[in-house]
Amino acid sequence: MKISRKELIDRYLKFFGSKGHRIIPNASLVPVNDPTVLFTTAGMHPLVPYLLSQPHPLGKRLCNVQRCIRTQDIDEVGDTYHHTFFEMLGNWSLGDYFKEQAIKMTFEFQNKVLKIPLNKYAVSVFGGDSRVPQLQKDDESANIWKSIGIPKERIAYLKGGVYESDNNWWGPAGKTGPCGPDTEQFFWCGKEKAPAKFNPGDKKWIEIGNDVLMQYVKDEKGNFNIAKQKNIDFGGGVERTVAALNGLDDNYLSDCFLPIIKEIEKISGKIYPKNDKERTIVALKEDYDKYEKEVIKAMRIIADHIKAAVFIIADGVSPSNTERGYVLRRLIRRAVKYGRVNLKLEQKSGFFTDKIAEIVFEIYDDYEILKDKKRILNILLEEENTFNKTLDRGLITLHKISRGKKIISGRDAFLLYQSYGFPIEMTEEILKEKGIKVDEKEFGEEYEKHKTLSKAAAEGKFKSGLADSSSTTTRLHTATHMLNAALKEILRDKNIHQKGSNITAERLRFDFNFPRKLSDEELKETENLINKKIKENLKVERQEMSLTDAMSSGAEAEFGAKYPERVSVYTVLDPKEKRGFFSREICTGPHVKNTGEVGKFKIIKEESSSAGVRRIKAVVE
Ligand code: ALA
Repeated sequence: MKISRKELIDRYLKFFGSKGHRIIPNASLVPVNDPTVLFTTAGMHPLVPYLLSQPHPLGKRLCNVQRCIRTQDIDEVGDTYHHTFFEMLGNWSLGDYFKEQAIKMTFEFQNKVLKIPLNKYAVSVFGGDSRVPQLQKDDESANIWKSIGIPKERIAYLKGGVYESDNNWWGPAGKTGPCGPDTEQFFWCGKEKAPAKFNPGDKKWIEIGNDVLMQYVKDEKGNFNIAKQKNIDFGGGVERTVAALNGLDDNYLSDCFLPIIKEIEKISGKIYPKNDKERTIVALKEDYDKYEKEVIKAMRIIADHIKAAVFIIADGVSPSNTERGYVLRRLIRRAVKYGRVNLKLEQKSGFFTDKIAEIVFEIYDDYEILKDKKRILNILLEEENTFNKTLDRGLITLHKISRGKKIISGRDAFLLYQSYGFPIEMTEEILKEKGIKVDEKEFGEEYEKHKTLSKAAAEGKFKSGLADSSSTTTRLHTATHMLNAALKEILRDKNIHQKGSNITAERLRFDFNFPRKLSDEELKETENLINKKIKENLKVERQEMSLTDAMSSGAEAEFGAKYPERVSVYTVLDPKEKRGFFSREICTGPHVKNTGEVGKFKIIKEESSSAGVRRIKAVVE
């Protein structure tokens, strides 16, 4: 390798450091400031409040490398360059430098530091958007590129703009927020000489960087308002840059993936062709096109998905049937399916996700969050195990119900989901290979019907805690918040969050992500801590604030829940704590005024709720 992943990151951070950028932490994949998006999708994501003018404590020039998940690309994974997990190099100007300096710095890095020669380099700029006359083509950027020596033929104006699939426009990350035209840089990875004229449609031009020129803020009505603070948001994919700089036209051959691929080769006894010689060996034995579609694709999917799963678990998510947990479940199950079905890994030869995950820990040993290896492997193995138990039977059923059909009913797809744990997307994918469709609408109806039924059953048995504001339930509500805070402290895991809660007049039930059974001692300590805080008569305060303020004030939000823009926040104040409080949560209440009112807190049961989720039942006396 001419340059490794770690070297690229090191050179990038050193270069932008030398230009006055401070390194900010690589944030969690679970967005802290934005409950409307499941995962962190770009380096700018955690910075939205600062891009909108809130001053950043580290100043106006920032940089980092950010772990990202993009699940909209999940079906594309399997080719040479789509991934669900990737790392992004990022540098930002928060109202400091703008187009000229940004372009010059990007070029200096790519040309001087990474030594990309001009004959392999091209750029694109925003070509205007006829649907929004306000947005003119970006001559300013084109002229800057020309002034530093990029020939006119290597600068492409791309039309399009503000619509999702359009060119040279970025953002906003959600519905509203900072956005603007962008200018992208490309590297020629063909073996032959690069054509003089840049054709962005030619796949041999690989995009290695993108400077977003944030000069607008999109509002609720869809208007583009000139931003008070103009920002630069540069993003560059680590995997593709490492691959391109090493002359590889397949990201899976870069050191971000190759060791994982080699492990998959070892486990499956199949070759992932890495050069002409290996391609010839495969072609002598197999129909190469078929091999590429079935085996090579499966190897890439497994490598990608297990890597993504490791990082998502590391950031505190466990497999479940909703939101982030569902995405994680889908990734693991999809990897298991491709392993068992396409690579023919026998169940009797044991588990494989942990062996692949081991290599992820080796490649990314610069990540602190991956130090929690045992916990991550346990969750992964538990999910593989659960799915293995039903995969074979599910495949047989799927085969039976789809035989001779062009479309299978939503009811059947729901049966596969409910009885065998087949995510609907997986059923669709398996059937698509045979040209069979799924009645998705009916599946949706079945799903909703089932949800309503089980909800009704639950509500029939218990009165909903929120509706019943008798004194016991109010006390149990506050006790639930205290339990959430106490668990984090006693189990020393700040990634613990509420995964579900149910309060009746008799007891509270609290579900939270944690990979193992709690010891008696841990339960006792949790109970003791809560009772101590109850005795201290701490004040419980209610405040109303914007969701952004609530999140930045350290308020706890339920995993994946959607919140309105203004929320109420309940805080159990504690002057002895460094943060000034023992617990703070976004919640509609009701709660007691003082912890003394809660009474004596007692845990009556601790058990497993689902894979990676524990359940505690407790009472107040
Ligand atoms: N935020 C920009 C991107 O994702 C840099 O491409």
